[in-house]
Amino acid sequence: MAVRLGCSQTTISRVLNGKGKKYRISDATVKKVLAEAQRCKYSTSLVAHHLRKNKTESIGLLIPSVANPFFADMASVIISEAHSRNYVTIIVDMQEDGSNQDEALAALLERQVDGVIVVPCADNPTLLEEIDRTVVPVVLVDRYYENIPLSYVTTNNYKGGLLATELMLENRHKRIACVQGFPNAMPTIMRVKGYCDAMEKAGLADNELIVGGEFSTQNGYLETKLLLGENPRPTAIFALSNTILLGAIKAIREAGLKIPEDISVISFDNNRYLDYMVPPIHRIGQPVEDMAILASRILFEKINGNNPEQVRRLALSPKLIAGESVCPCRE
Ligand code: RIB
Repeated sequence: MAVRLGCSQTTISRVLNGKGKKYRISDATVKKVLAEAQRCKYSTSLVAHHLRKNKTESIGLLIPSVANPFFADMASVIISEAHSRNYVTIIVDMQEDGSNQDEALAALLERQVDGVIVVPCADNPTLLEEIDRTVVPVVLVDRYYENIPLSYVTTNNYKGGLLATELMLENRHKRIACVQGFPNAMPTIMRVKGYCDAMEKAGLADNELIVGGEFSTQNGYLETKLLLGENPRPTAIFALSNTILLGAIKAIREAGLKIPEDISVISFDNNRYLDYMVPPIHRIGQPVEDMAILASRILFEKINGNNPEQVRRLALSPKLIAGESVCPCRE
């Protein structure tokens, strides 16, 4: 259009954005530009702006559940990181159901996001790999897949599992039950490995008791109901997530048992409400903010074409946060 009208791109942009007067552009030029714009149906809309930049300045965020404070906290940081780069974030909630993952990814691609951050729920990473290879960059956070070329930022879940179990062992607990999340999720696999290695190192391999199979409050409740019916029952419970913990506490209270006097409890995940529980809960805190910031930075590096092929695999350290829910075993 600039060449046809014999004026600069800047002049055209100023006229189409209604700034002709501000920049003292002659009426004749303004009329000429607007007439040409109408003739070729030029739009000053966001679409035209993004077409010129070949970006929509939006990213997708795929999470298992917005209702889970762990993911809500993570999403808040990612939204802020995107906003600081003038990007918007489109969130899709997979309802902790892996069968929703591919459909959710397709919905984000239809909206032409420039990249995607995913906490994967599905066991099969094929579509994620394909999108990263041929469409837009994909970065995983929290949950991830091993041995595939997708970058991820997670917690050192093995270390967290070890820390939690060692604390129980130091308090002379021998019957420590582990209520796990989704068995195929890497955070579960690594936390359980930490639990098993600590038990084996203490000569208690035969006491390993791993139950459950969802990062859900119902899983925590039902499995703990069953554990408390065992004879002898466990003297300690390691809940592998914030959601599982809530269910475990409900079952313990329904049984009329006291924490930690009757049963010690430790959980994965730090949430602000855990300090307000009676008693405050011992937990393994994950560096959620750092994970979210790093995942965002890796994604935007790729969106901006910096080291697009580089695969980053980062595991950040968890932290044991003391509460009052663990005490020495009285048996
Ligand atoms: O409930 C949330 C859990 O699932 C957290 O432990 C987090 O690691 C996610 O994988």
